[in-house]
Amino acid sequence: MKHIQINASRNYEVLIGRNLLKDAGKWIANVLKPCKLCIITDDTVAKLYAEPLHASLKEEGFELCQYVFAHGELSKNVTTYSQILEYMASENLTRTDAVVALGGGVTGDMAGFAAASYLRGIPFIQIPTTLLAAVDSSVGGKTGVNLESGKNLVGAFWQPSLVLCDCDTFKSLSYDLMLDGISEAIKYGAIVDSVLFDFIAQEDIFSDSVLEQITAHCVRIKSEVVEEDEKETGRRQLLNFGHTVGHAIEKCSHYTISHGHAVAIGMLIAARAAFKLGYSKENCAPAIEESLKKYRYPLHCPYTAKELAAVALNDKKRSGQEITLVLPSVIGECYLQKTKISELEHFIAQGLSE
Ligand SMILES: NC(=O)c1ccc[n+]([C@@H]2O[C@H](COP(=O)([O-])OP(=O)(O)OC[C@H]3O[C@@H](n4cnc5c(N)ncnc54)[C@H](O)[C@@H]3O)[C@@H](O)[C@H]2O)c1
Ligand SMILES: [Zn+2]
Repeated sequence: MKHIQINASRNYEVLIGRNLLKDAGKWIANVLKPCKLCIITDDTVAKLYAEPLHASLKEEGFELCQYVFAHGELSKNVTTYSQILEYMASENLTRTDAVVALGGGVTGDMAGFAAASYLRGIPFIQIPTTLLAAVDSSVGGKTGVNLESGKNLVGAFWQPSLVLCDCDTFKSLSYDLMLDGISEAIKYGAIVDSVLFDFIAQEDIFSDSVLEQITAHCVRIKSEVVEEDEKETGRRQLLNFGHTVGHAIEKCSHYTISHGHAVAIGMLIAARAAFKLGYSKENCAPAIEESLKKYRYPLHCPYTAKELAAVALNDKKRSGQEITLVLPSVIGECYLQKTKISELEHFIAQGLSE
């Protein structure tokens, strides 16, 4: 098992290993005094993993309650969030009690935000069960839900007290859900670590030991970036490589193209355009494309540059007349490039054509 220490506004550990769920109670008892734990999970994950978690928590003497919502991004909204808060209140949770998020990024984001805001903040534990949640959303403290107007438009920075990552839970993920996590792992390699990038391109990420190793590697990278820039005013923006165009693709598809698949295409478009437009001297696109093809990502983008730019520029989180793009200089090193919003469509058009 790997222990990774995160030093943010709250210090905590990320534990990564196999068969950890059965010992979850013990690990949680190390960071929380005896209390009531409110487990928040979705209906798919509840069926798969709630039972062993409950058994382990009860063994350590924790009092339990559980809120289950319908799986999927559509549940990540203010209505479900408010139902969770009402449930927590009906269970008389106090400031010394805690939330346990058992599930993917949707669960972690929403349960984290409930923990951040209920009674102005109570502790929470992340137990990510998707590769994406393990390598990305469960570390770094970004929590929140979607508004009708857009994704993640309301939320809070709220660090967990512990992240417990049992890689055995990834065994029940579909290939497509695994791909959602792998593209984020490729992203970490591309932005700061060429060794990781090559490793993912060459090794079989589906083998148990490799998966655990890669998860730990990604968490270490994310923790370093987050420790330096917790509130995303500078370096943390590098984590958005592939995301400006990726988010636009997700939105254009009405979320039928998943985040990870959209980011895969977004990274390729950004790398191609960066080279063609002379921002980057080296062409990183072929290596990125080769790695994505190895995992059989569908790389065709069904939208035009005009459609994508319009959606990207509508992003409510964008400020002013410029947009910050994340571009690769070489594999393993990216930089932030401010670009006029009027140039975004041309940039995407260059990235779309081979
Ligand atoms: N907070 C952050 O920093 C951050 C970073 C990246 C993504 N996110 C958010 O994460 C979300 C996407 O995460 P996700 O893909 O994990 O979504 P998710 O939580 O919806 O999980 C995807 C699907 O997998 C199912 N599932 C979860 N674990 C499973 C398992 N072990 N076996 C079988 N099925 C399982 C879920 O029921 C769901 O249907 C988005 O809402 C995104 O905005 C947040
Ligand atoms: Zn992402």
